[in-house]
Amino acid sequence: MDNVATTTPTILVLFGASGDLSQRLIVPALFDLYQDGHLPERFALLGAGRSDLDAAALVLRYRDGVAAHARHGAPDDATWQAFSAMIEYLRTDAVSQDANAQLSERLSRYEKDWGAPAQRIYYLATPPILFAPIARGLCAAGLTANHERTRIVVEKPLGHDLESFLEINRALTGCFSERQIFRIDHFLGKETVQNILALRFANPIFEPIWNRRYVDHVVITVAETMGVEHRAGYYEHAGALRDMVQNHLMQVLCLVAMEPPVAYDAEDVRGKKVDVLRALRPIPRDAVGEFTARGQYGAGWIRGERRPAYREEPEIDPRSNIETYAALKLLVDNWRWQGVPFYLRTGKRMAADVSEVSIRFRDVPHRAFPAAGGLQAQPVRLVIQIQPEQGVVLKFMAKEPGYQLRLRPVDMSFRYSEAFETPSPNAYETLLWDALRGDATLFMRADQVEAAWRLLMPVLEVWGENPAPDFPNYPAGSWGPEAAEILLARDGRSWLTPSLSRET
Ligand code: BG6
Repeated sequence: MDNVATTTPTILVLFGASGDLSQRLIVPALFDLYQDGHLPERFALLGAGRSDLDAAALVLRYRDGVAAHARHGAPDDATWQAFSAMIEYLRTDAVSQDANAQLSERLSRYEKDWGAPAQRIYYLATPPILFAPIARGLCAAGLTANHERTRIVVEKPLGHDLESFLEINRALTGCFSERQIFRIDHFLGKETVQNILALRFANPIFEPIWNRRYVDHVVITVAETMGVEHRAGYYEHAGALRDMVQNHLMQVLCLVAMEPPVAYDAEDVRGKKVDVLRALRPIPRDAVGEFTARGQYGAGWIRGERRPAYREEPEIDPRSNIETYAALKLLVDNWRWQGVPFYLRTGKRMAADVSEVSIRFRDVPHRAFPAAGGLQAQPVRLVIQIQPEQGVVLKFMAKEPGYQLRLRPVDMSFRYSEAFETPSPNAYETLLWDALRGDATLFMRADQVEAAWRLLMPVLEVWGENPAPDFPNYPAGSWGPEAAEILLARDGRSWLTPSLSRET
């Protein structure tokens, strides 16, 4: 890593400082950056929030978060002292004018103490309903004036639908230029997601076959064994489509389908990704049933433990119509991908934790060799493993040892853990480091988010207006509802079990 980030004095103002996101993800990632020497020498973390806490109480809370979630593990006392000396807390109602006056005074004080102007990063780890008022408040107080040294970071969910996204966006772009707005989709910070571009564009052998002539279809899977956990309040208004597909899966799809960028920079890469979103064939309201499948988990067993149905989880409506599983068939209307379906699926309480992209190549035109022991010959598949396995596996047919020429599927694999000794930073570390440096390549641009909402709106509307008569329709611990099987069966295909290379 080059170390530009360590030279610019920086104040990170963390709104929602006492919340779960700050404690579990943001502060542990900052701590890891600090441990690796990637925070500027003059750095301050100014927590802002409504909780009745003082800095000492906040620091204690953060220490627990760091011990539980930082890559470097629990800190020793000396390290923690040095890190926590950078943390202050401002108890404030972020949307009031007084609060912004206080904030302004505090920010100027840092700069005075440091004897240097600082870059200011406003990180909104708050519910999205506060994004617009906080942004407007900062703007009105003159705290966003310096475009070179001010940035704002917001997290998904960016709205609840197209309209609410556009409203948030109007507030943000009313105060900040697009270059200053960093919209996080944490999947883009994952090492293996970034590796999709490296695999495709740093190796000349993949690009010639990465198109409709060789690829039969693509499957993107993000499956989780966990359920709704403690997030009923949020999830009951979100569901799998908003929570996962609108952002994470669409972003992965863009990386798989995009054209090569001229340079690895924010405008070029994001421009190429938007081209994919623009090329996605719209799903008309009357074809939603043909292109999608939804599910909600019922009770079932995962790793020997019985799990309750979604409708039996705490604070969930016992008649909830929210989907915990979503599958889509998408078509990319351009020269490269015409006629190649991209199947996306994601679900909670699935059989395993696995996120991967499977590129299924076309079959050979003629099969001259028999497969061994009643096995079916399998077309070649390239599997990009995002997590928990991190790597790439090429699945192909090889001759089985013996006198006869008979085929058996085999794997050729690359694993991050075997190939590299350096541990991967976690996604938030990478994204925070980029935000400190002002590099927006791995962040979502407004037009990407808008295009993704636009595509999904008919599905959200139809699903919202028509409660699913068969919910719950898949047991916890399974690979999803029958409706998802039918979605592929209509095309004469089936989902393959993800490439699990260890027991889950
Ligand atoms: C979040 C979703 O964005 O991503 C969660 O809100 C989901 O529902 C999570 O569990 C998955 O992220 P990761 O990094 O744990 O795979």
